[in-house]
Amino acid sequence: MLLKATFTVLFLLEAFPCMARESLGHISVVLLGASGDLAKKYLWQGLFQLYLDEVNNGHTFTFHGAGLKPVEQGRILVFDRLKNLACPSDVHPNRCALVKDQFLRLTEYHQLKTSEDYAALNQEIRTRLSQEDLKEAGRIFYFSVPPFSYAEIARHINSSCRPPPEAWIRVALEKPFGHDLRSAQQLAEELRTFFQEEEIYRVDHFLGKQAVAHILPFREQNQHNLDPIWNRHHVERVEIVLKETVDVKNRTSFYEEYGVLRDIHQNHLTEILTFLAMELPANISSSEDVIRSKLQVFTSLQVPEVSSAVIGQYEAYNGHVREELQKERDYVSRTPTFAGVLAHLDNLRWEGVPFILTSGKVLDERVSYVRVLFKNRAFCTLGEALWNADHSQCKPKQIIFHIGYGGLNSPAVLISRNLFKPSMPASSWKEVLDRPQLRLFGQPLSDYYAYVPIAEKDAYAVLISRIFQGKKESFITMENLLASWAFWSPLLDGLKITLPRLYPGGQESQHLLDFEMVGRGLSFVVKEPAKLLSNWDDQTPDKYKTVQSRFRQSHLVTAWSEELISQLASDIEKAAISTIGKSAEFHLALSGGSSPLALFRELALRHYGFPWRQTHLWLVDERCVPLNDPESNFGKLHDYLLQHVRIPYVNVHPMPVHLNRRLCVEEDKGTELYASEIAALVANASFHLVLLGVGADGHTASLFPHSPVGLEGSEEVVLTESPIKPHQRMTLTLPLINKAKRVWLLVMGKSKHDIVTLISRVGHEPKKWPVSGVKPSSGQVAWYVDYEALLG
Ligand SMILES: *[C@@H]1O[C@H](CO)[C@@H](O)[C@H](O)[C@H]1NC(C)=O
Ligand SMILES: *[C@@H]1O[C@H](CO)[C@@H](O)[C@H](O)[C@H]1NC(C)=O
Ligand SMILES: *[C@@H]1O[C@H](CO)[C@@H](O)[C@H](O)[C@H]1NC(C)=O
Ligand SMILES: *[C@@H]1O[C@H](CO)[C@@H](O)[C@H](O)[C@H]1NC(C)=O
Repeated sequence: MLLKATFTVLFLLEAFPCMARESLGHISVVLLGASGDLAKKYLWQGLFQLYLDEVNNGHTFTFHGAGLKPVEQGRILVFDRLKNLACPSDVHPNRCALVKDQFLRLTEYHQLKTSEDYAALNQEIRTRLSQEDLKEAGRIFYFSVPPFSYAEIARHINSSCRPPPEAWIRVALEKPFGHDLRSAQQLAEELRTFFQEEEIYRVDHFLGKQAVAHILPFREQNQHNLDPIWNRHHVERVEIVLKETVDVKNRTSFYEEYGVLRDIHQNHLTEILTFLAMELPANISSSEDVIRSKLQVFTSLQVPEVSSAVIGQYEAYNGHVREELQKERDYVSRTPTFAGVLAHLDNLRWEGVPFILTSGKVLDERVSYVRVLFKNRAFCTLGEALWNADHSQCKPKQIIFHIGYGGLNSPAVLISRNLFKPSMPASSWKEVLDRPQLRLFGQPLSDYYAYVPIAEKDAYAVLISRIFQGKKESFITMENLLASWAFWSPLLDGLKITLPRLYPGGQESQHLLDFEMVGRGLSFVVKEPAKLLSNWDDQTPDKYKTVQSRFRQSHLVTAWSEELISQLASDIEKAAISTIGKSAEFHLALSGGSSPLALFRELALRHYGFPWRQTHLWLVDERCVPLNDPESNFGKLHDYLLQHVRIPYVNVHPMPVHLNRRLCVEEDKGTELYASEIAALVANASFHLVLLGVGADGHTASLFPHSPVGLEGSEEVVLTESPIKPHQRMTLTLPLINKAKRVWLLVMGKSKHDIVTLISRVGHEPKKWPVSGVKPSSGQVAWYVDYEALLG
């Protein structure tokens, strides 16, 4: 096949006399993962573009698609794709057809599995080059494969498929490059054993997008105009935005582990930030200079606090996760699908200027851009009709690198006419004529000098060409990568326990995701969007197929766990509102354990109208551990609920298990302390609502079978021993619980089926099954039992 190809090369040499110079050497391009999605969509087209661009410039090429599939099968898949390669609009169709035919002849498929396979490929390249008397210039290996296979492939290439020392080798890798700082370091270490850093090209395809790739040239070519204003005195803020309309269906196994911050902010948005914020290097054509300046940015970036971010999750996401990852019905994902992050740099140029990095899925539009908004000091006395676009200091002043999609549906660079007329390279960018209907960022297009590329180029095609040219500044160096992870990791850790705000998606999200700068942080503009969600609330009666019946002579509500939790949360809210109508305060006592966590989340996320200000929260029971221990009931209540709602600090009543720096010691009288707090605040020590769970052994609160403690008598709070760790507990007693106006019991999951069946039959036997002693003297009991617990 290759032999024939060489004849065609000779033919081309004759057909294009300008090519008739000595070969600069041969280049073999190996595409690993040749029949995968990325290869199909972009990489083959990019390789074809490379060949189109370079065929006349003195190098010879062969292309090797590779994969795990056997040759016959892989060849069919790859050639299917190659048939459909598109001809760029700026290439004559005849020439394109000729070059395409040539490209196909130069392309082969190889199965690369074992080290012998790699050695065979190596041998093949060497043999044919010597047959045709060609000198080897270099090899490109493009890894379009999952990162877990990087190390193995790298090992094979290093040991069996390196070119001879006088030729170069370049390996291109796709993100993700790790999951946090540690895993990124690990991956980097691993690769470093096989390749020099200069041989590694880490691809972030955003760096190949034309508008992004033009940021630095634009800054340089307009240095004269920009120098005075590209700083904190003139820039009001910088927005770096990537909005998507798609969801992550079918990709949740990846997404659940990464989320939007790792998927988009850590790489694409951060890279763009460095190009905007860096000091212009002395020579922007020098990779080393650019890379050094970029890296410098990280030393000024201030590590964001949790309060610098707002996060959201589209409502259908949790369902996608449960379905695709086969999670339990009460599984709650905290993975954000939307995030806005405020970044600051503490250098002389940028101190105090907010850089806002935003991205999300299932938003109202697909668009990505960078917007640099300048301060406007002018006050205009003339009316707007008399403002002249070119010179008016009244209109907004902004520079926009429009990366793609949106109303323009094209890459573009826009500069407000009242700033300056930019210098743009006429060979690659052209001015766009006005489109009168189009308004962008608050202004008609006619208010801008607006430029679009003469020929749109795909990002991968751009980057493949840069790999060929060895332009490393278009790729992520290891130092850059680790600096970026070091910047993001603390925020990612901090957000682990933060619940994202749920949003319905698309335009229905309305203003739910709008956020504002408050001091050095961000917060959602709509704080308690009860009204926005009212439509949703109206639908709830139909949406929840809860079944109501009787259990132990009391009210029973049953449904699948998700609907059950929604119902319970609504019922608690109703109880709170009606109680506050009468007595101004609502005293709610909550149990620990895992069942209420989904409830806490539901209350925090869906019940924006809950009267938290008038609500007092008490604990039914607590484990004798410090409050910041992961086992602490209060800790969980805090993480899942308290930190998301605005409840006055003084209304929260943790159990005093930790006194005098020791845990639950009788002499410290923690139980008496809690009892007197209750006596002081709760009328008649009668809680408005006590929420209990039920253990598989029939325990409730921390009242355990076969122990008389807390079942009767006048004590209100006691210490007990649990059969499971941590053993020591503090708990409200049965007599106190039975004074409550409402006692509701939440029971969920298959593991509770046996005990539910049992207690549906037994009478009042609190010594054997403490839960059977729940019998308020004048209050109401209700059971919330999900189908799995009720029906098994
Ligand atoms: C890389 O290949 C060279 C040459 O075969 C070999 O000496 C070296 O041990 C290899 N490196 C690793 C980490 O396997
Ligand atoms: C998701 O995967 C299923 C099964 O593999 C497939 O039928 C469906 O088309 C995929 N959906 C999307 C949006 O890719
Ligand atoms: C800038 O860097 C390029 C690439 O390294 C080099 O060819 C060029 O001579 C440099 N220009 C100056 C002015 O140093
Ligand atoms: C407290 O108890 C007394 C006597 O049982 C009763 O009259 C009164 O209504 C109760 N108060 C409240 C707020 O429950």
